[in-house]
Amino acid sequence: MPRLSLEGGHILIGTVKASGAKNAALPLLAATILMDGECLLSNVPDLHDINTMIKMLNALNVRAEYGPNNQIKITNTKKVRHIAPYDLVTAMRASFFVAGPLLAKTGFAKVPLPGGCSIGSRPIDLHLKGFKALGAKVSIEHGFVELQCKQLIGTRFYMDFPSVGATENIMMAATLAQGQTIIENVAQEPEITDLGHFLIAAGASITGLGTSTITINGTKTLTGTHHRVIPDRIEAGTLLIAGAITKGDVTVFDAIPEHNEPLLQKLKECGLGLEIFPDRVRVFYQGQPTAVDIETLPFPGFPTDMQAQMMSLMTLAKGTSIITESIFENRFMHADELMRMGAKIKLNNRSALVTGVPMLSGAEVKITDLRAGAALILAGLAAEGITTVHGLKHLRRGYDNLPEKLQSLGAKILG
Ligand code: UD1
Repeated sequence: MPRLSLEGGHILIGTVKASGAKNAALPLLAATILMDGECLLSNVPDLHDINTMIKMLNALNVRAEYGPNNQIKITNTKKVRHIAPYDLVTAMRASFFVAGPLLAKTGFAKVPLPGGCSIGSRPIDLHLKGFKALGAKVSIEHGFVELQCKQLIGTRFYMDFPSVGATENIMMAATLAQGQTIIENVAQEPEITDLGHFLIAAGASITGLGTSTITINGTKTLTGTHHRVIPDRIEAGTLLIAGAITKGDVTVFDAIPEHNEPLLQKLKECGLGLEIFPDRVRVFYQGQPTAVDIETLPFPGFPTDMQAQMMSLMTLAKGTSIITESIFENRFMHADELMRMGAKIKLNNRSALVTGVPMLSGAEVKITDLRAGAALILAGLAAEGITTVHGLKHLRRGYDNLPEKLQSLGAKILG
């Protein structure tokens, strides 16, 4: 299994660019199924998950190909196929994003149930409730979700929980529905707003983006357009913590500070130095960080995707921090690995009590999911000696050249 070794104890200093957001690019790619003609997406990160979505589009007869400079050209001029291949959906949950666009565009979608993953069971009931509300016939047979409709009809729909994926899937489907759809209690993550802007540029009528109620007036067709993917707030946050945990001074540019507000507030509360500009953020060490409590919540709350990295920072903080995971049921797999590096952590159901220690020690550790991988690399950067991180494939799914970016800031990556 691919692994990475690094020598800890090197102070990270310098400037680094955030890549485009994985979680924005994936639904944007799925949305091209709705659009006739040619789309050009720029600032797309070079990642395994993006490749999986490209394969999915091609399997559905929507031609997608990587071009130079992180661009993807998508040509949707042929009859779209409506059966999503099993191996692509089970390889990546976000493949389920094609369900809403396929249903709206072709009136039929057959997509395998994505199944659980290492951070929890991750049902899709909210996606299906939304499709039903729009008038689709929904059935689950032989492990496949089958969706059918003659024409989706606008509706008023309240989401029991502001799920990011369900908001995106239902919003995409509603763009080609007949009449008006009002979705209440939607997720407000910046990636949803980015998707909304792309759909609007293609001819959709959407209001309320970034609020808890989105209104969509259906249209008959959408036309291919050009869009630049927003910067990855999670990658930017991870790089900022890399600066903080190594007692360094790191500036991340092409980042949107408002997208990282909850993290930046916490870094400030820890006593780290911060300078915020419209398109970049600088974090610098000003003495040992103070422990802070964290609870993950839907946006604009603290992101679950930054919980693991923040836990690494807290292992070296002054005092004790309570970290509560409210979004996913099983997202503390990194805690056991951090403990192997000398961290003092007590787990109790959905909370972790992290008491800062003076030093972590390098160890062999195992990555169980994407963000856990980032957390272990951050801990390794600060630890004494050499850390070897096993299971690198998880990291490659969602971080665009993270080891290389850390190296450019002064990290000693041994290969
Ligand atoms: C997206 C992000 C992921 C992030 C998560 C929460 C992408 C590709 N992934 O995942 O990185 O960690 O948001 O910010 O954008 N749920 C249900 N029923 C549903 C849907 C969700 O019960 O139909 C539950 C999930 O099990 C989970 C919670 O809602 O406990 C949040 O999930 P959701 O917001 O849907 O996350 P994803 O879209 O899967």
